[in-house]
Amino acid sequence: MNDLIHKIKSSKTTINYNSLGEFVKAINFDELKYDELVNEPEHVGDYGRNILTLEPFECVLINWPAGVESAVHFHDGLFGYVFVLEGELDNVSYRFEGDKLIEYAIDRYGKKGLMPEPDGVIHKLRNNSTSQRAITLHFYYPAIHSFEGMEIYHLEKEEIGILSDQAKTAKWSLEEGHFKEVRKNAFDFVSFEAFKQN
Ligand SMILES: [Fe+2]
Repeated sequence: MNDLIHKIKSSKTTINYNSLGEFVKAINFDELKYDELVNEPEHVGDYGRNILTLEPFECVLINWPAGVESAVHFHDGLFGYVFVLEGELDNVSYRFEGDKLIEYAIDRYGKKGLMPEPDGVIHKLRNNSTSQRAITLHFYYPAIHSFEGMEIYHLEKEEIGILSDQAKTAKWSLEEGHFKEVRKNAFDFVSFEAFKQN
Protein backbone atom coordinates (compact mmCIF):
# COMPACT_ATOMS: atom_id res chain seq x y z
CA MET A 1 0.00 0.00 0.00
CA ASN A 2 2.93 2.36 0.66
CA ASP A 3 3.81 2.41 -3.03
CA LEU A 4 0.28 3.41 -3.95
CA ILE A 5 0.13 6.20 -1.35
CA HIS A 6 3.48 7.49 -2.57
CA LYS A 7 2.19 7.42 -6.15
CA ILE A 8 -0.92 9.40 -5.17
CA LYS A 9 1.06 12.00 -3.23
CA SER A 10 3.46 12.56 -6.12
CA SER A 11 0.71 12.62 -8.76
CA LYS A 12 0.78 15.82 -10.78
CA THR A 13 -2.20 15.30 -13.09
CA THR A 14 -5.15 17.67 -13.05
CA ILE A 15 -7.88 15.85 -11.21
CA ASN A 16 -11.30 15.48 -12.71
CA TYR A 17 -13.76 12.59 -12.79
CA ASN A 18 -12.14 11.00 -15.89
CA SER A 19 -8.50 11.43 -14.89
CA LEU A 20 -9.20 10.06 -11.40
CA GLY A 21 -10.89 7.08 -13.05
CA GLU A 22 -7.85 6.49 -15.27
CA PHE A 23 -5.56 6.66 -12.25
CA VAL A 24 -7.67 4.16 -10.30
CA LYS A 25 -8.03 1.74 -13.24
CA ALA A 26 -4.23 1.64 -13.63
CA ILE A 27 -3.67 0.46 -10.04
CA ASN A 28 -2.58 -3.13 -9.62
CA PHE A 29 -4.85 -4.05 -6.74
CA ASP A 30 -3.55 -7.64 -6.61
CA GLU A 31 -0.33 -6.37 -5.07
CA LEU A 32 -1.95 -4.26 -2.36
CA LYS A 33 -1.44 -5.42 1.20
CA TYR A 34 -4.06 -3.88 3.45
CA ASP A 35 -4.62 -6.26 6.39
CA GLU A 36 -2.63 -4.23 8.92
CA LEU A 37 -4.32 -1.00 7.84
CA VAL A 38 -7.90 -2.18 8.48
CA ASN A 39 -9.46 -0.21 11.35
CA GLU A 40 -12.30 -1.53 13.44
CA PRO A 41 -15.31 0.79 13.84
CA GLU A 42 -15.41 3.03 16.92
CA HIS A 43 -19.09 2.20 17.55
CA VAL A 44 -21.31 -0.78 16.77
CA GLY A 45 -23.16 -0.14 13.51
CA ASP A 46 -20.43 2.09 12.07
CA TYR A 47 -17.78 1.37 9.49
CA GLY A 48 -14.08 1.61 10.33
CA ARG A 49 -12.12 4.26 8.45
CA ASN A 50 -8.43 4.68 7.80
CA ILE A 51 -7.58 7.82 5.83
CA LEU A 52 -4.35 7.02 4.00
CA THR A 53 -3.89 10.43 2.36
CA LEU A 54 -5.94 13.57 1.67
CA GLU A 55 -3.74 15.18 -0.99
CA PRO A 56 -3.93 15.64 -3.92
CA PHE A 57 -7.07 13.52 -3.54
CA GLU A 58 -8.38 11.41 -0.71
CA CYS A 59 -7.64 7.71 -0.39
CA VAL A 60 -9.45 5.99 2.48
CA LEU A 61 -9.65 2.32 3.43
CA ILE A 62 -13.05 1.33 4.82
CA ASN A 63 -14.04 -1.76 6.80
CA TRP A 64 -17.76 -2.58 6.56
CA PRO A 65 -18.82 -5.18 9.10
CA ALA A 66 -21.75 -7.40 8.03
CA GLY A 67 -24.97 -5.39 7.80
CA VAL A 68 -23.38 -1.93 8.08
CA GLU A 69 -24.42 0.88 5.74
CA SER A 70 -23.68 4.55 5.19
CA ALA A 71 -26.32 7.28 5.48
CA VAL A 72 -28.06 8.26 2.26
CA HIS A 73 -26.08 11.31 1.14
CA PHE A 74 -25.86 13.81 -1.69
CA HIS A 75 -22.63 14.39 -3.66
CA ASP A 76 -22.53 18.14 -4.19
CA GLY A 77 -19.23 18.88 -5.91
CA LEU A 78 -17.67 15.60 -4.76
CA PHE A 79 -16.83 12.58 -6.91
CA GLY A 80 -14.85 9.40 -6.63
CA TYR A 81 -14.47 5.67 -7.10
CA VAL A 82 -14.66 2.67 -4.79
CA PHE A 83 -12.64 -0.50 -5.34
CA VAL A 84 -13.81 -3.67 -3.55
CA LEU A 85 -10.84 -5.51 -2.04
CA GLU A 86 -12.86 -8.10 -0.14
CA GLY A 87 -16.52 -9.07 0.25
CA GLU A 88 -19.40 -7.31 -1.52
CA LEU A 89 -20.76 -3.77 -1.38
CA ASP A 90 -24.14 -2.50 -2.63
CA ASN A 91 -24.66 0.91 -4.15
CA VAL A 92 -28.28 1.99 -3.56
CA SER A 93 -29.28 4.98 -5.73
CA TYR A 94 -31.98 7.63 -5.26
CA ARG A 95 -33.42 10.50 -7.25
CA PHE A 96 -35.98 13.20 -6.69
CA GLU A 97 -39.09 13.40 -8.84
CA GLY A 98 -41.02 16.37 -7.53
CA ASP A 99 -41.28 15.79 -3.79
CA LYS A 100 -40.77 12.03 -4.14
CA LEU A 101 -37.39 10.53 -3.23
CA ILE A 102 -37.24 7.35 -5.28
CA GLU A 103 -34.98 4.38 -4.54
CA TYR A 104 -34.47 3.34 -8.17
CA ALA A 105 -31.42 1.07 -8.36
CA ILE A 106 -29.44 -1.39 -6.27
CA ASP A 107 -26.11 -2.43 -7.80
CA ARG A 108 -23.89 -5.02 -6.17
CA TYR A 109 -20.09 -4.94 -6.54
CA GLY A 110 -18.02 -8.01 -5.70
CA LYS A 111 -14.30 -8.44 -5.15
CA LYS A 112 -12.30 -6.41 -7.70
CA GLY A 113 -15.44 -4.44 -8.64
CA LEU A 114 -15.04 -0.70 -9.27
CA MET A 115 -18.00 1.45 -8.27
CA PRO A 116 -18.23 4.99 -9.64
CA GLU A 117 -19.53 7.84 -7.44
CA PRO A 118 -20.10 10.72 -9.87
CA ASP A 119 -20.83 14.26 -8.74
CA GLY A 120 -24.51 14.90 -8.12
CA VAL A 121 -25.60 11.41 -7.04
CA ILE A 122 -27.76 10.63 -4.04
CA HIS A 123 -26.90 7.21 -2.70
CA LYS A 124 -25.88 4.98 0.16
CA LEU A 125 -23.36 2.16 0.34
CA ARG A 126 -24.10 -0.99 2.30
CA ASN A 127 -22.69 -4.37 3.12
CA ASN A 128 -25.78 -6.53 2.88
CA SER A 129 -24.00 -9.70 4.00
CA THR A 130 -25.08 -11.29 7.28
CA SER A 131 -21.66 -12.80 7.97
CA GLN A 132 -18.83 -11.35 5.85
CA ARG A 133 -17.07 -8.02 6.21
CA ALA A 134 -16.36 -5.92 3.14
CA ILE A 135 -13.09 -4.02 2.69
CA THR A 136 -13.07 -1.18 0.19
CA LEU A 137 -10.60 1.43 -0.99
CA HIS A 138 -12.15 4.83 -1.80
CA PHE A 139 -10.77 7.67 -3.89
CA TYR A 140 -12.44 11.09 -3.53
CA TYR A 141 -11.92 14.54 -4.92
CA PRO A 142 -11.88 16.98 -3.36
CA ALA A 143 -10.85 15.37 -0.08
CA ILE A 144 -13.52 15.51 2.60
CA HIS A 145 -11.99 17.85 5.19
CA SER A 146 -15.36 18.74 6.66
CA PHE A 147 -18.91 17.45 6.30
CA GLU A 148 -20.31 20.97 6.61
CA GLY A 149 -23.23 21.51 4.27
CA MET A 150 -23.56 17.84 3.21
CA GLU A 151 -27.17 16.69 2.95
CA ILE A 152 -28.18 13.33 4.37
CA TYR A 153 -31.62 11.75 4.10
CA HIS A 154 -33.60 9.85 6.71
CA LEU A 155 -35.84 7.52 4.71
CA GLU A 156 -38.19 6.47 7.53
CA LYS A 157 -38.65 9.95 8.99
CA GLU A 158 -38.57 11.56 5.52
CA GLU A 159 -36.19 14.23 6.80
CA ILE A 160 -33.19 15.96 5.26
CA GLY A 161 -30.33 16.79 7.61
CA ILE A 162 -27.70 19.37 6.67
CA LEU A 163 -24.49 18.64 8.53
CA SER A 164 -22.58 21.29 10.43
CA ASP A 165 -18.82 21.81 10.63
CA GLN A 166 -18.93 19.91 13.92
CA ALA A 167 -20.18 16.67 12.36
CA LYS A 168 -17.47 14.03 12.58
CA THR A 169 -19.31 11.53 10.40
CA ALA A 170 -21.91 11.73 7.66
CA LYS A 171 -24.64 9.91 9.56
CA TRP A 172 -27.75 10.56 11.64
CA SER A 173 -26.69 11.47 15.14
CA LEU A 174 -28.25 13.00 18.23
CA GLU A 175 -25.02 14.79 19.11
CA GLU A 176 -25.44 18.47 19.91
CA GLY A 177 -24.42 20.65 17.00
CA HIS A 178 -24.26 17.79 14.48
CA PHE A 179 -26.73 19.48 12.12
CA LYS A 180 -27.03 23.02 10.81
CA GLU A 181 -30.62 22.32 9.94
CA VAL A 182 -33.08 19.43 9.78
CA ARG A 183 -35.96 19.73 7.30
CA LYS A 184 -38.98 17.72 8.40
CA ASN A 185 -41.55 16.22 5.97
CA ALA A 186 -39.00 16.99 3.29
CA PHE A 187 -40.03 14.27 0.79
CA ASP A 188 -42.14 11.18 0.21
CA PHE A 189 -39.97 8.09 0.16
CA VAL A 190 -40.62 5.46 -2.55
CA SER A 191 -38.85 2.18 -1.79
CA PHE A 192 -37.20 0.04 -4.47
CA GLU A 193 -39.99 -2.54 -4.09
CA ALA A 194 -42.69 0.11 -4.63
CA PHE A 195 -40.71 1.62 -7.54
CA LYS A 196 -40.41 -1.76 -9.32
CA GLN A 197 -44.17 -2.34 -9.13
CA ASN A 198 -44.87 0.77 -11.21
FE1 LIG B 1 -20.91 8.65 -1.67
